[in-house]
Amino acid sequence: MSPLAWTSVFLSLTTTLRANSVGESALTYQPQPYTINVDPNVIEEIRLKVSKYQPTPDTNAPPWFDGPPASTISSIAKYWAEEYNWTTIQTAINANFSHFYTTVSPTSPHYNASVDLHFIHERSPREDATPILLLHGWPSTNLEWRNIIPGLANPPNASDPAFHVVAPSIPGYGFSPALNGSRVNVTRQSYAAIFDALMQQLGYPQYILYSTDLGFGIALSLVVDHQPHIINHISDFYLARVTPSDQARFDANQTSPEETAYIQSSNAFFGPHSGYSHMHSTFPLTLAYALNDSPVGFLAWMYHIDQTVSDRPTSHEEIVTKALLLFLPGVYNNVRLYKEIFAPSTAWVPDVRFTVPTSILQFGGDMYYPDMANWTYRTANVTYFARHDKGAHFPAVVEPELVLGHIRTIFAE
Ligand SMILES: *[C@@H]1O[C@H](CO)[C@@H](O)[C@H](O)[C@H]1NC(C)=O
Ligand SMILES: *[C@@H]1O[C@H](CO)[C@@H](O)[C@H](O)[C@H]1NC(C)=O
Ligand SMILES: *[C@@H]1O[C@H](CO)[C@@H](O)[C@H](O)[C@H]1NC(C)=O
Ligand SMILES: *[C@@H]1O[C@H](CO)[C@@H](O)[C@H](O)[C@H]1NC(C)=O
Ligand SMILES: *[C@@H]1O[C@H](CO)[C@@H](O)[C@H](O)[C@H]1NC(C)=O
Ligand SMILES: *[C@@H]1O[C@H](CO)[C@@H](O)[C@H](O)[C@H]1NC(C)=O
Ligand SMILES: *[C@@H]1O[C@H](CO)[C@@H](O)[C@H](O)[C@H]1NC(C)=O
Ligand SMILES: *[C@@H]1O[C@H](CO)[C@@H](O)[C@H](O)[C@H]1NC(C)=O
Ligand SMILES: *[C@@H]1O[C@H](CO)[C@@H](O)[C@H](O)[C@H]1NC(C)=O
Repeated sequence: MSPLAWTSVFLSLTTTLRANSVGESALTYQPQPYTINVDPNVIEEIRLKVSKYQPTPDTNAPPWFDGPPASTISSIAKYWAEEYNWTTIQTAINANFSHFYTTVSPTSPHYNASVDLHFIHERSPREDATPILLLHGWPSTNLEWRNIIPGLANPPNASDPAFHVVAPSIPGYGFSPALNGSRVNVTRQSYAAIFDALMQQLGYPQYILYSTDLGFGIALSLVVDHQPHIINHISDFYLARVTPSDQARFDANQTSPEETAYIQSSNAFFGPHSGYSHMHSTFPLTLAYALNDSPVGFLAWMYHIDQTVSDRPTSHEEIVTKALLLFLPGVYNNVRLYKEIFAPSTAWVPDVRFTVPTSILQFGGDMYYPDMANWTYRTANVTYFARHDKGAHFPAVVEPELVLGHIRTIFAE
């Protein structure tokens, strides 16, 4: 059997196994209300595996020198096995948001098969509301938006703009099943076609985009392939590429102090920090054999990256929920997105000038903070730019009021 055939077998097995565990898929072309209801036996099987976790002994290396401290991972594993209660969390997620399930059928040269999606759709009661599509990344799901959804759909101040919020989980994340056909040629353009088809199905011909992380990669394809549909692209993770000529000036000591800081930060981000990303985007299946088999091993892998780009610790409950929501659909199905987003070229930001008005929010507190304003003007039609020295990689989780404040300012009458 060829390696590609193995990929499909593994994928369809995973899809079949998980389909029973994440609730009933409504195979329909109209959105149906959806209640998250994970099979308790699946949760218990995972908990049993967690309870058998074999701690890895720490070395004498300083904390985080080789990875997250073993004591932290053991403490999270103990919490997961003994205290974590998925039922309570599931009840809150169901109660707090309006969940839907649908099938979209994009008619794009980049993707034309049917795709099942889980999404939160919080329609504003306000008649003047504008649709907004929120695109998360990895390690995350549509719950990344939990703290800003209420304030977008129902702003407390009637003079602030209101939004019809659409927050899908990317296929293979949370309760959106993995793409079920061959994924050989899936790219970020495929996901752009899928999410535009969702917005069109919901009756939102034009909409605002808010993107982060891998969702930013999808957004860049949306603003090119579906440009007339996009009112504004807001991103809290706008990457500006260091070109070979920037690098050459840097190597020759010809860059300004600001440029030097930016290039050093970018090189650190795409250098050692991105080891995980290189693995995800080259041999995700090889990696997934281990990660898919060990809930704690996967949590530790994910936790390392999560904490590196956070400016504050995450609670045990939050990190376990995040890990579980990527473990349930099968880890392979979400880490593979790196390969898809980076294809066909490994350039995050292609050499294109994006004409869609672009609002860039830069949040610091992690490793990636130097002022990037001058860099973003190179590729984007920047109509709004703001920076904060906190919030890091998950500002919608940790600084929801700052994010909401900017969105309100951008769309103030
Ligand atoms: C989890 O919480 C639910 C209520 O949300 C409760 O009924 C159940 O007993 C709890 N499970 C455990 C194992 O404590
Ligand atoms: C649900 O809402 C309650 C308060 O309304 C909040 O305490 C809780 O954190 C929310 N849970 C989620 C998953 O958003
Ligand atoms: C869908 O895409 C496949 C593969 O790219 C192609 O062979 C097929 O003709 C397409 N079908 C339609 C209806 O466009
Ligand atoms: C609502 O917003 C308007 C315009 O920004 C402001 O003048 C007013 O004070 C705000 N009201 C409240 C209750 O915050
Ligand atoms: C993929 O899903 C679609 C729609 O849900 C279904 O019609 C099709 O048979 C599935 N394909 C495979 C290979 O499972
Ligand atoms: C993937 O793309 C290649 C090159 O464009 C093409 O030869 C191949 O048929 C495609 N495979 C599928 C499954 O669409
Ligand atoms: C750049 O500066 C560093 C030290 O600041 C020096 O070691 C290096 O030789 C310089 N490179 C060039 C090309 O001038
Ligand atoms: C941005 O570019 C301007 C003009 O070249 C320069 O004066 C300024 O220092 C730059 N700012 C940063 C943060 O790089
Ligand atoms: C940037 O967006 C604005 C607002 O839509 C538009 O008027 C302008 O033409 C765009 N500029 C470029 C260079 O695309």
